[in-house]
Order: sequence, then structure tokens, then C-alpha cells
Amino acid sequence: MSAQLINGKEVSQKRLQAVAEAVAQRQQNNLHTPCLAVVLVGGDPASAVYVRNKKTACQKCGIKSLSYELPESTSQEELLALVDRLNADSEVDGILIQLPLPKHLDSQAVLERISPDKDVDGFHPYNVGRLAVKMPLMRPCTPKGVMTLLEAYGIDPKGKKAVVVGASNIVGRPQALELLLARATVTICHSATENLADEVAGADILVVGVGIPNFVKGGWIKPGAVVIDVGINRLDDGSLCGDVEFETAKERAAMITPVPGGVGPMTIATLMENTLHAASLHDA
Ligand code: GUN
Repeated sequence: MSAQLINGKEVSQKRLQAVAEAVAQRQQNNLHTPCLAVVLVGGDPASAVYVRNKKTACQKCGIKSLSYELPESTSQEELLALVDRLNADSEVDGILIQLPLPKHLDSQAVLERISPDKDVDGFHPYNVGRLAVKMPLMRPCTPKGVMTLLEAYGIDPKGKKAVVVGASNIVGRPQALELLLARATVTICHSATENLADEVAGADILVVGVGIPNFVKGGWIKPGAVVIDVGINRLDDGSLCGDVEFETAKERAAMITPVPGGVGPMTIATLMENTLHAASLHDA
């Protein structure tokens, strides 16, 4: 049997539409138009594509976007000074620093400089901590987008065994916190995990974000599992593939996300939701 495909593109379009309606409603109520500042440092081509997609999503939703494209040679002090300016600018609701930053910059220090109420990526330790203590404010976009997808397909993690493969700050760790908040029994696997195949085999819900093409083999997956593949890897032939071996996995899973068209569009839709949320925090 072949798994049902989880269509992130379709779900994300509905969510973007809902954000657009909420922004229009704000305008009718004479509330300010949400505004996202997008910062790109250097010329990484993949980052340039992501940033362009984020700005396009803003346009679709009626969110104002401000674009800052800085040269590779930007210093830590210059970048921190820009964050300070954006923090102080009352027009700006959200600040997004596209990662990865060039190697000479200290990403963590930059992320920690963003005001937590403008941290639409949810990467500031304040926001990660709030998620950890069951009081989320700004939630990291990819993990929250995954939860939105599960909900859209009627999958309630409560009481289920959820396994997260990858323990990054952007995906794995906050994903585990989201699944725990939704009352799953959560296991986090990482590069020091022994017997990864056995851990994966226990998962009712499997979320994989490691950035290695076809890392999780289809044969490891529990029959009937829900498989969420966060990976987007470009192969030498130019095609995209996920972190899960899709062709074999779909013969065992009940539901699976494709790559592309699964989690990717949800990250951007969630960024728009977070920007709308930030705007509402700034209404007072
Ligand atoms: N690079 C890869 N994923 C992300 C993300 O979710 N946000 C930002 N800012 N950069 C990223």
C-alpha cells in the first residue's frame, strides 16, 4: 500500500489566505499594517531564494516587507547596529535574519539581540524557553508549521510515540518541545544516538531534519507511521530530495510529506502567521 501524501502546499495556501483576511480586517479596524524586516547577509544562492519567497509571501498577505541586503563583508558591529535600529523602529513588527550567516559573524549573538516580541523566527532563547515551559510566545516556524500540518490532517500527537531525528536549534529541539506540548511521548535522536533504526522503528510520528539526503531508510519505518520530512537537499542532477528515502518509506507509512511541497511551504506560511501575531502584540 502506498501512503497518503500530506500536501503542505495546499495547507499553506489556506493559511496564507487566512493571514491575508486577518490583515485586511486589521486595516478595516484602523490597526497598523504588519511589517516584516528581512535581512540577508552575503550572496548564498539558496538563502537568496528563501528570502525572495518570504518577501513574495508578505506581498500575498498584504504584509509590508522591508529588505536589507548586506554585503558578505558586513561586520558583527554593523549587523548588531541594524538589529538595534529595527528593534527601535515602531513600524517594524518582525525581524528575520536569514541563516546561515557568513562564518565570521556570531549568529547566536545576533539572534539574541532581536527583541523577543519581534523574533518572528522564534530563535531567541527567551522564546525557546517559553516554549519549553508551556507558555509559547513566538514559536519557531518550521516546527510550528509541522504541527499545523498534523492538525490539518487530523493527527493528534497526544499519547503517540513521536521520534525526532536531528537536534538542531532550528528544527529538532523546538520540534521536540512542540510535540511534547501536544502531549506526545518524545524521543530525540542525534549523531551520537546508538541503534537509530530501532528508535525510528518505534515512531508513530516521525519527524526528520538532518540535512542529509535519504538518511532515514524506508525499511526502518513502522508500518502505518506518519512521516514528516523536513529536509530539502539538492542533488548533483539539480533535483530536490528529503532526508527520508521516499520511495521505500511511502510503502510503509500511512501518511508522508513529499519534498518539495511538504514542510517547506508551511515554514513560510507560519512566518506570516508569526508576523501577524507580532503585530497584534504591538497594537497596544
Ligand atoms: N535558514 C534555514 N531555515 C531558516 C529559518 O527558518 N529561518 C531563518 N531565518 N533562516 C533559516
